[in-house]
Amino acid sequence: MTVHQVKVALGERSYSVLVGHGAINQIDNFVPKLAKRALVVTQKNIPIQPTLKIESTTVFIGDTEEHKSLTTIEMLAQKFAEFGLTRNDVVIGVGGGMVTDVAGFAAASWHRGTSVVHVATSLVGMVDASVGGKTGVNIASGKNLVGAFWQPLGVICDLDALETLTQREMRCGLGEVAKYHFLTGDDLLALEMPARIARCVEIKANIVSADERESGGRALLNYGHTLAHALERSSNFMMAHGEAVAVGMIFAAHVAHSMKRISQARVDEHYRVIGETYGLKVKPDEIINRRELIGLMHLDKKAVSGLTFVLDGPSGIEVVSGVSEMHLEQAFDAMRLNEK
Ligand SMILES: NC(=O)c1ccc[n+]([C@@H]2O[C@H](COP(=O)([O-])OP(=O)(O)OC[C@H]3O[C@@H](n4cnc5c(N)ncnc54)[C@H](O)[C@@H]3O)[C@@H](O)[C@H]2O)c1
Ligand SMILES: [Zn+2]
Repeated sequence: MTVHQVKVALGERSYSVLVGHGAINQIDNFVPKLAKRALVVTQKNIPIQPTLKIESTTVFIGDTEEHKSLTTIEMLAQKFAEFGLTRNDVVIGVGGGMVTDVAGFAAASWHRGTSVVHVATSLVGMVDASVGGKTGVNIASGKNLVGAFWQPLGVICDLDALETLTQREMRCGLGEVAKYHFLTGDDLLALEMPARIARCVEIKANIVSADERESGGRALLNYGHTLAHALERSSNFMMAHGEAVAVGMIFAAHVAHSMKRISQARVDEHYRVIGETYGLKVKPDEIINRRELIGLMHLDKKAVSGLTFVLDGPSGIEVVSGVSEMHLEQAFDAMRLNEK
């Protein structure tokens, strides 16, 4: 079985991402030579677990975002201490993005930095969360507000895990896959699933290599995310992230068209790729409140002056600030949404 290998080039912090069926069997490649112990962080319903040559133990964390918390980090640190985990040992996060964000942050702070390896088991985890070194947890004031950049020693995307993923979780990942389609203009559809996921990882890896700490190009990964974050919040998170990103990219295409940055044909391509190819919804089921969404978009953390959007244009996708409300209104009109 082919296992694709993608390199994340970050100087001495470079690492590989292995993508393929059964890739988890290659985990030993990523366990540091000096490590005597491995502590696996995972959840009860994760279908695959690594078999390790060194002494190991498994700690289960709760499911859902509310467990992506400092309480969970403290619990893990206590388990690390009881297990006698040293700086030479390794933490292994096995799960979706929630698990790898938590395991990564726990490892980043344990003894001020202990090695971590990620085994991504959800599509979001594979094409997005496990690669790039952003780790962290939520607090009452917001998502991912406490965290650290902490690159893993390696990442494994074992496609066998996807068999048990729910349709909804799958759609969440497809929203991000569709995003990569627009970021590069690559014909991702021509690729078989393993190669397609590997190509998505490569696109993310290239963006991260060029801008590890998001001082520039890494912000492009937020394509579709400005409206998406507002939709998630206004729906009380009933709308899943990837579904919201799909609608957010349609909206961004209309905004770009209204600003005369792209043609109607390019807007149509967004509908085709997102709606037909990836089978994602191109507008929310629910009635929306335009004023509320615009208000929430103003709160988006990227907003430095006026509204900042990631928009398609003649020279590709780029960060555009100072987007006027008139263009947002025109985009909402063009989407013909059911409104309050
Ligand atoms: N660090 C980053 O760069 C980055 C990027 C994107 C998202 N994220 C974070 O990732 C999280 C979202 O990731 P997610 O969508 O994977 O959510 P998740 O980790 O919460 O997983 C969703 C659900 O699927 C289950 N699951 C995971 N793999 C499974 C499998 N193979 N079979 C059956 N069930 C499985 C999980 O237990 C969970 O119930 C959020 O916390 C988000 O903030 C981080
Ligand atoms: Zn996203």
